[in-house]
Amino acid sequence: MLNIFKNIELRYPIIQGGMAVRVSTAPLAGAVACAGGVGIIGATGMSVEELRREIRAARLLARQGTIGVNIMFAVRNFAELVKASLREKVDLVITGAGFSRDIFSWGKEAKIPIVTIVSTSRLAKIAEKYGAAAVIAEGSEAGGHLGTDLSVSEIIPEIKDSVKIPVIAAGGITDSGDIREMMKLGADGVQLATRFVLSEECAVADSFKAHYLNAREEDVVIIKSPVGLPGRAIRNVFSDALARGESPKIKCDNCLKACSKEYCILEALENSRMGRIDQGVIFSGKNVFKIKKILSVKKIFDELTLAFKDQ
Ligand SMILES: Cc1cc2nc3c(=O)[nH]c(=O)nc-3n(C[C@H](O)[C@H](O)[C@H](O)COP(=O)(O)O)c2cc1C
Repeated sequence: MLNIFKNIELRYPIIQGGMAVRVSTAPLAGAVACAGGVGIIGATGMSVEELRREIRAARLLARQGTIGVNIMFAVRNFAELVKASLREKVDLVITGAGFSRDIFSWGKEAKIPIVTIVSTSRLAKIAEKYGAAAVIAEGSEAGGHLGTDLSVSEIIPEIKDSVKIPVIAAGGITDSGDIREMMKLGADGVQLATRFVLSEECAVADSFKAHYLNAREEDVVIIKSPVGLPGRAIRNVFSDALARGESPKIKCDNCLKACSKEYCILEALENSRMGRIDQGVIFSGKNVFKIKKILSVKKIFDELTLAFKDQ
């Protein structure tokens, strides 16, 4: 058993990355926790009530497993979602694309570790100083919003040298060979998201998974997100329109703290998850083209965990 986050014993230091909007929900997170990893519910885009239901459903699937939530700092209901997760006694809370100081004191009070996603040693040091239990160092190969244009292999050694807390590598990891490489660079664990979209348990539309399976290396592009960060996604009708400067009209309910309102990113993510692919953003990691099969989470773990067996 490993202990990379305070008080949490893990069979494997493998985190399934949180994925908005409703890409990583209870069935996926529960299956990952059952397999001995950390199952993460993507809370961004959910109401407190919906998140609570997902956490409870994941717990029912994995009574002994480790279940956490990922919440993007950019959402207006960030504090409510964090507090609701702490009340539900999740095992850990991960903040994506930023963090504030107060979240660490809420975590301390609830005795629940707070982990933050960073892409630079400067932010890693600040997170450690505020009380982060670990940092996830995410390189430019990652899917979704990006905080750097450096690769994960470039940022891991530097971030590892700058903090004493565990450093988890994320971005472009698809198999046990990639995990071994990250551990050699000094990572204490890994976070994978794209690999888990192509699982039987991931609850996105079949056409979303088909887009992943058919993606070639050159189909993975950088899009502009109204959050103000670049995003990595699979090229489609929607991303082509954005590239031409065309964006759909939006109904806005001010769900983000800061938004250019060029289009609604949450609606675009929900569209693709539901199978309205041409009207949506399909976030994906750079190495999606290396994954050829939809497998059960158990089978994915059988391969990934070869990284921890003697060669
Ligand atoms: C569909 C999708 C949605 C994502 N949504 C979020 C999110 O809501 N919050 C977050 O911090 N990261 C998000 N990410 C990033 C992942 O959690 C993860 O760190 C990253 O994708 C790892 O790279 P990989 O996909 O190549 O394994 C998302 C990634 C994908 C592919």
